Amino acid sequence: MRAPAHGIYVHMPWCASRCPYCAFNVHTDPSPPFMDWATGVLREAALREPSWAAHRAAEGGARSLYIGGGTPSLAPPEVLARVVAGLPRAPDAVVSMELNPGTIDAETVAGLVDAGANRLSVGVQTFQPRHARLLNRGHTVHQAEALVEIVAAAPLRSWNLDLIFALPGQTMAELDADLDALLGLDPPHVSLYGLTFEPGTPLARMRDEGIVVEPEGELWRAMYERIVERLQLHGLDRYEVSNFARPGHRSTHNDDIWRGGFYLGLGPGAHGFQPDGGRTVGRAEPTAWMAEPLGETTSPDAEGAAADFVLSTLRHIDGLDLHELAERFDRRADAAILDRLSAAGLAHQRGEHLVLSAEGMALADGISAQVIWSLEER
Ligand SMILES: C[S@@+](CC[C@H](N)C(=O)[O-])C[C@H]1O[C@@H](n2cnc3c(N)ncnc32)[C@H](O)[C@@H]1O
Ligand code: SF4
Repeated sequence: MRAPAHGIYVHMPWCASRCPYCAFNVHTDPSPPFMDWATGVLREAALREPSWAAHRAAEGGARSLYIGGGTPSLAPPEVLARVVAGLPRAPDAVVSMELNPGTIDAETVAGLVDAGANRLSVGVQTFQPRHARLLNRGHTVHQAEALVEIVAAAPLRSWNLDLIFALPGQTMAELDADLDALLGLDPPHVSLYGLTFEPGTPLARMRDEGIVVEPEGELWRAMYERIVERLQLHGLDRYEVSNFARPGHRSTHNDDIWRGGFYLGLGPGAHGFQPDGGRTVGRAEPTAWMAEPLGETTSPDAEGAAADFVLSTLRHIDGLDLHELAERFDRRADAAILDRLSAAGLAHQRGEHLVLSAEGMALADGISAQVIWSLEER
């Protein structure tokens, strides 16, 4: 069995302001030390190198480098160029960067391309001014649309648009209007986010105080199904529960990770998954991380590692490889559970793979939990 492909994720931790729903490791320093961050990323890569050298020598370089955030596009292009140039990867690797509307123009997009980006991801989120106000993202719908047009015309291999749904008070008609606007821009890739009410965020407090109402599960599911139907009709195929692409435009980074691939995680608070099975995390606070980047590395036992494998791969259209589950983790899923899922029309076996049905995709996390509970030593 071949070792899984690997990618590199780099976390750029600063944003102009924090969105009221976001619980990511984000900081709002008025003058972030971008060049020190780039130095820190390369230093962390050097420190983690002993865990990667043998894998890279045997399997080739990283297939993807993904700079996410935070708001990577806040950093000057020369800073991003330094990070891109300093990290080893395959010659044809996909280099993605995330950008927020409102912070950049055509010149900045050209700078990101010069810095090495060949795929850009735009955080549009919604096209409805009323919902954009609630999300308080520091950009207008008009700015988001203008940025998408610049990105669509840039010399890239592909690009992505992020959409959030299940917003408080959002109606099906408003969701359809969002989808009309999104499809009008004809993105080759869409990443979908159901709004979550993260504990401790202003959004969760607004819900607790009765100012906004969290959409119910049934509406969530109806919205998810509407989105899938409309994206698929437009030629955007679902390859993972929340990721849709035209043929040839899947995100290599996402595609590999959801198939159980390894990833080198760099930057404050970034998570990684090493070829030796170790789960790494960088120190979260940028100043502390610059002084000493490495946080904890944990090595899950076979049971934990198998659970991680089920959780990620069942979300992917290729499904859970039961043969790999046995070979890599010495575990098998209880046949009675597989039969029940099949009888309920939620999943079926295709060769060695357990694959979710369209109905199962909307319930992926619950189904993964059932499969994980059923795992036994082979
Ligand atoms: C962490 S952001 C980084 C990229 C960029 N800063 C942006 O906002 O587009 C990546 C994605 O996570 C989404 N996100 C953050 N918090 C979320 C939440 N509570 N529920 C759903 N999506 C969320 C953002 O809207 C964005 O699409
Ligand atoms: S811009 Fe993105 S990363 Fe920054 S606070 Fe908003 S959602 Fe979070």
